[in-house]
Amino acid sequence: MIARRLRELSVYTEIVPPTIAAADLKHRHPIGLILSGGPSSVSDAGAPTVDPGVFDLGIPVLGICYGMMLMTHALGGVVGRATSREYGHADVTVDGDVALFKDVPSHLRVWASHGDFIEQAPEGFVTSATSANAPVAGIACADRGLYGLLFHPEVVHSASGTDILRNFAFGVCRARGDWTMAGFVEESVAKIRAQVGQGRVVCGLSGGVDSTVAAVLLHRAIGDRLTCIFVDNGLLRGGEAEEVVRTFRDAIGLRLDFVDASTRFLEALAGVEDPERKRKIIGELFVRIFEEEARKIPGVGFLAQGTLYPDVIESVSFKGPSAVIKSHHNVGGLPERMHLKLVEPLRELFKDEVRELGRELGVPARVLERQPFPGPGLAVRIIGPVTGERLRVLREADAIVDAEIRAAGLYESIWQSFAVLLPIKTVGVMGDFRTYENVVAVRAVHSQDGMTADWVRLPYDVLQRISTRIINEVKGINRVAYDISSKPPGTIEWE
Ligand code: XMP
Repeated sequence: MIARRLRELSVYTEIVPPTIAAADLKHRHPIGLILSGGPSSVSDAGAPTVDPGVFDLGIPVLGICYGMMLMTHALGGVVGRATSREYGHADVTVDGDVALFKDVPSHLRVWASHGDFIEQAPEGFVTSATSANAPVAGIACADRGLYGLLFHPEVVHSASGTDILRNFAFGVCRARGDWTMAGFVEESVAKIRAQVGQGRVVCGLSGGVDSTVAAVLLHRAIGDRLTCIFVDNGLLRGGEAEEVVRTFRDAIGLRLDFVDASTRFLEALAGVEDPERKRKIIGELFVRIFEEEARKIPGVGFLAQGTLYPDVIESVSFKGPSAVIKSHHNVGGLPERMHLKLVEPLRELFKDEVRELGRELGVPARVLERQPFPGPGLAVRIIGPVTGERLRVLREADAIVDAEIRAAGLYESIWQSFAVLLPIKTVGVMGDFRTYENVVAVRAVHSQDGMTADWVRLPYDVLQRISTRIINEVKGINRVAYDISSKPPGTIEWE
């Protein structure tokens, strides 16, 4: 969040683990350093520390919450352990003479979460902020450009938080604020050209935001030396495959290798009920088909992927680069098998920045605003075996959910909204007839990143229209249920 807030101010920001040596940091030529917060206490065994050399690099340092405790500890101050943890809103009084608080109101309602407190600030520091619970809620040593804050300016709940970060970046670090998407495009195009040379790149398209934006950026850099492959696995929503092909041809002007593999996927999935087996079958078949297609491209040397910054950060644990936990290559094993090098032009960006980049590159808004859709597609939304008929039923129901959510003006504000086809039948009555048909569950969730989610309190009239239309219009459905589980404990997808 700290990095995102700074980038919103057009200040380029990178996240590094606290284990980084001051000398390595120096090689990156930062104009300032922020030590983030964290759940530890400086006195905990194994708590993250920082190379004390970072305070002598001659660049300003801002320690936030735990970062402030670390700074205090490293520079000879005394950190104490609070008897109770302060968590939530706090009212602080700040000293307007301190650069960090220039043009910021003197009384602020902020968001704080900490268990340590400063007993004594290091020598040369003044107290720059106080609160009822924390006599030292901020410290400053203007001569050395060192600042500490007990509260979190990066959270939206902290009044004037952005102003404080702006003061640090521009007032203290003298940032130019010239990191823009237009600049990013120029820089990336040059980087891609330098990496790829005269080589050829293959890119797998899903129709989603990330792969589309990556493809358009690559196309700008290397033109026809990019080949995009779109595999229709037969598990897409109604009209989706055609729409992706049309968008690429008409609105983006990029040639697409379209592979209709729907029959192969359906055959491979026949009779499979287990969710993990479904996922495995789909993933492996995708890789095989993608490889078959990629081998047809003469001289291909690179594979492009829409890896984003959060994937990169998650791959680096604070215990250092040795503890890389996750690898995020969704075309598993392909680069090694085919001796392809990876091109990841979005690996420095957050999701909302990818959308901004897409706008900069002229990608149609309809593509950029798309809700996420899982790789295994409708197969994980059909509980039980996937058949052509069940796909038809789910597609029709899903189209109604989509249309009604859009008509209500809710599509963009919702993380995901979709239908799930259940493997049970219930009794109903339609006209004079008894029916015995399937149930569809509707799921709509709010989420920031898909890691946690809460169900959307959809207006009753929207739910009613969805339900009435599905039952009236979709042959094979006679009941609609609404999923009111949050994540955790429920996942977003049902399988
Ligand atoms: P869950 O169901 O785990 O989903 O709460 C979290 C987010 O990830 C998406 N998802 C997937 N995306 N391949 C993908 O590309 C997958 O296999 C996959 N499974 C889940 C899901 O739609 C939600 O946005």
